[in-house]
Amino acid sequence: MSQFLKKNKEVIFLAVETSCDDTSVSVLRATEDAGRLKKIEALSNIVSSQTLLHAGYGGVYPFLAKREHKKNLPAVFEQAIKGIDVSELVFIGVTQGPGLDPCLWTGINFAQELAKKYSLPLVGANHLEAHFLANLLTLGIGEEKFTKTYLPAVCLVVSGGHTLLFLANVIGDYKLLGETVDDAAGECFDKAARILGLGYPGGPAIAECAKTYSKRTWGGQTSPTGGSTSKEAGIVLPRPMINQKNYNFSFSGLKTAVLYLHQKQTPETQKSEGYLEAMSYEIQRAIVDVLVTKTKRAAVEFGARSIIIGGGVSANEELRKEMKKVAKELNVEFLAPAPDLSVDNAAMTGAASYFAWRVGKASSKPEDLVSDPNLSI
Ligand code: KG4
Ligand code: ZN
Repeated sequence: MSQFLKKNKEVIFLAVETSCDDTSVSVLRATEDAGRLKKIEALSNIVSSQTLLHAGYGGVYPFLAKREHKKNLPAVFEQAIKGIDVSELVFIGVTQGPGLDPCLWTGINFAQELAKKYSLPLVGANHLEAHFLANLLTLGIGEEKFTKTYLPAVCLVVSGGHTLLFLANVIGDYKLLGETVDDAAGECFDKAARILGLGYPGGPAIAECAKTYSKRTWGGQTSPTGGSTSKEAGIVLPRPMINQKNYNFSFSGLKTAVLYLHQKQTPETQKSEGYLEAMSYEIQRAIVDVLVTKTKRAAVEFGARSIIIGGGVSANEELRKEMKKVAKELNVEFLAPAPDLSVDNAAMTGAASYFAWRVGKASSKPEDLVSDPNLSI
């Protein structure tokens, strides 16, 4: 028994996430065996979303988001620690970046206060790594199995603020392959939806409309001519940078193409369901085509054992379906997070915090931690 206790160590810790418009606090438990992670699980993962609040602006308004984080953090924290013995906490993790600077600081200041109050070390987490590690949480397996089964992996993080492709050799060792040179994929969904008057957030709204289109046209199936064309929709949009032999993305031209095409329509057409559904179908196809084509090329070039996706846009059913197809074709694994772990949440911040803490990045001087809004992978 004493040997078991020595071998298996439990590390309970708390994580805070406020990088964009979700206020989240999570308490996690990492079970270690001889210093290796056997399992990581969220004991609580409370998220207070500001989506409705920002809907009127068609996007996230940073200073409004900051005010809401400040207002919501105490209650979210109280809910997250319900039933938890705070004296058992070993450290606190907080999103350091990338993200909206005023929002990041709200979470950091809150975490600094907690670290001081409970005399705990504080560690900063990379939000992009957190989106990738949301998959480890979803699987509920240890790092050894994760590494052996899925790494090296080609990872695509797609959200409202980020679109990047990176290679994960092992947890903590990443190589950036490419990123968006302008808008993020989620931003493109949001802006296109705004042009079409479909509301915010745009991703789910466009996905819903696109689904109605394909249901009506092909009984819920994707276009029989495959992913690269949707001429059946009577609308053809560009697939920016799809043929460029690099791993960068660009979505602002696609948004502009949507705007020009929309402006050419009569007011009646602009409001017609058939047109909005066809347009949504084509917007989604264009974004998915680019993301899938580049990810596939990277998976082949780097001999990846898996394709892993994360971020708000990874909740997109069509993207998941197409990525899965490609993974099958290449005979590699495919991973996507559980829906509640796709969007911003503190449990994934906790996963990234754990690995940062383990390599000694936690500081007993919490006041030293500063935000890094442009942090990369
Ligand atoms: O990761 P996330 O919650 O926050 C950021 O860090 O940005 O991602 C939010 C983004 C929004 O742009 C939203 O439109 C998009 O994810 N999104 C989707 C879907 N669900 C959320 N995009 C496409 N399809 C979806 N089902
Ligand atoms: Zn995010």
